[in-house]
Amino acid sequence: MGNIDEIYYIEENSFAAPWTKEMLESEISNKLSVLETESKNGMLCGFALGRVVADEAEIFKIAVLPDFRRQGIADKLLSKMHEQMRKKGALVCFLEVRSKNISAISLYEKSGYQRVRVIPRYYGDDDAVVLRREL
Ligand SMILES: CC(C)(COP(=O)(O)OP(=O)(O)OC[C@H]1O[C@@H](n2cnc3c(N)ncnc32)[C@H](O)[C@@H]1OP(=O)(O)O)[C@@H](O)C(=O)NCCC(=O)NCCS
Repeated sequence: MGNIDEIYYIEENSFAAPWTKEMLESEISNKLSVLETESKNGMLCGFALGRVVADEAEIFKIAVLPDFRRQGIADKLLSKMHEQMRKKGALVCFLEVRSKNISAISLYEKSGYQRVRVIPRYYGDDDAVVLRREL
């Protein structure tokens, strides 16, 4: 499944306001959490993290190391997440994304997510788009 240092390395290289290693560790160790990772040539290059609570799932984040982007890795991570979430009993998945994050919004829409609503200034400097997909 990959170790926390490798996951944290991807986190730091993917987000302007990364979670701390402790935040990641705590979320991953929660029994409701769902984690998927992808490796290339023995190197962890992407991960996706979410949760399933009863029949509802949520994706918190998905990230791929810059050198490994545009190769279908996030797409694969998303499919594996959906599969694991379904196995845990989820019927629907939600997520929030920055309205300016065009790459992520295209990734999710391509995978069948639909826009539910916009939360103005959710991130302070940006709005959140809430996306939803049936599993
Ligand atoms: C968003 C992110 C995870 C995409 O990872 P990726 O492995 O490059 O994505 P994929 O190669 O699987 O691309 C799948 C689809 O996503 C969309 N996409 C990905 N990168 C894109 C870009 N730079 N511009 C436009 N669309 C993009 C496309 O629809 C793409 O399909 P296509 O290649 O057939 O056009 C990656 O850019 C990343 O880690 N960004 C920083 C972290 C982040 O913002 N995460 C999302 C919010 S939690």
